[in-house]
Amino acid sequence: MQAETILEARNLRKSYSVSTGAFTKSERQTVAVDDVSFELERGETLGIVGESGCGKTTLARMLLRLIEPDSGEIRFRGQNWLDARGADLRALRRRMQMVFQDPVASLNPRMRVGAIIGEPLAVHEAGLSRAKRRDRVAEILEAVGLGPDSMNRYPHEFSGGQRQRIGIARALILRPELVIADEPVSALDVSVGAQILELLARLQREFSLTLILISHSLPVVAQLATRVAVMQRGRIVEIGAAAQVLGAPKDPYTKALIAAVPQIPA
Ligand SMILES: Nc1ncnc2c1ncn2[C@@H]1O[C@H](COP(=O)(O)OP(=O)(O)OP(=O)(O)O)[C@@H](O)[C@H]1O
Ligand SMILES: [Mg+2]
Repeated sequence: MQAETILEARNLRKSYSVSTGAFTKSERQTVAVDDVSFELERGETLGIVGESGCGKTTLARMLLRLIEPDSGEIRFRGQNWLDARGADLRALRRRMQMVFQDPVASLNPRMRVGAIIGEPLAVHEAGLSRAKRRDRVAEILEAVGLGPDSMNRYPHEFSGGQRQRIGIARALILRPELVIADEPVSALDVSVGAQILELLARLQREFSLTLILISHSLPVVAQLATRVAVMQRGRIVEIGAAAQVLGAPKDPYTKALIAAVPQIPA
C-alpha cells in the first residue's frame, strides 16, 4: 500500500499554569507536552508509551482538538486542523474519535446503550430514520461482540470489558478514519484487557482504521503497535518501527522501560 500521511504534528507544545499556594497568586508553569512532532501513516498503529504524567493524554487531547496547543501545527489529511471552523471542523471532527480509559465515567448511566451508541449518529447524520439508526447501532454492537438486546440495557448492567466494548462501538459508529485509544485497557483485568486489544486489532482491519494506542504499559503497546513513540517529560525521546524500538532501543529511557517489564520465569 502506498504510504499516505493522515496526521502530522509539528512542534506541539502545551503548558499548564499550576497555582502553588492556596491563598497566594503564585503560579508555576508545567510543560505537559514539549515540542512534539510526528507523522502518522494511514493504517498504522502508533503506540505512545511513557510513565504517568509524561503528557500522553495532553497530546491526545490536542490531536483531537479538545484542548488547544500553545504553539505548533496539526495537519489532518493535509488540512490545517487547528484553523478549521464551522462545517469544516464538524466534517473533520467526525473522522477522528477517541476511546477513553474509564468506560464507567465516559458512559452516561441514565441512557440506554442504544441511545449512547446512537447519539453521534443523531448529531452527525440527523437525517437518518429511527429504523436505520437502530440498524447501524445493531451492526456496530455485533462488530464489537455484543448482542442487539444490549441496546435496551443500561451501562451498569455490563461488566468492565463489555462497557469498554460499548465505548468502542460509540467511537466507531460514525466510521472514523482515526481512533485514539487512551489507556483503553488499564482499568481492566489483564485477560479482559487482552481481549479488548484483540478486538481493536480486528476492528482496525475490518474498518481500515488508523490507530493511536496510548498506554503506560510497554507490553500493551507491544501487542498492537506497528510503530512506537516513547515519551518522557513531555517529549518524544524515541520513535520508530515497533521491532526496532522494542528490539534494539537507542534511547536510555526506552532501555530502562524495557528492562522494567517483569519477565515470566521459563
Ligand atoms: N488540566 C490540567 N491542569 C494542570 N496541569 C495538568 C492538567 N492536565 C495535565 N496536567 C499536567 O500535565 C502533565 C501531563 O499530564 P497528562 O495527563 O498528559 O499525562 P499522562 O502521560 O496522560 O499521565 P497518565 O499516564 O497518568 O494518564 C502532568 O504533569 C499533569 O500534572
Ligand atoms: Mg493519561
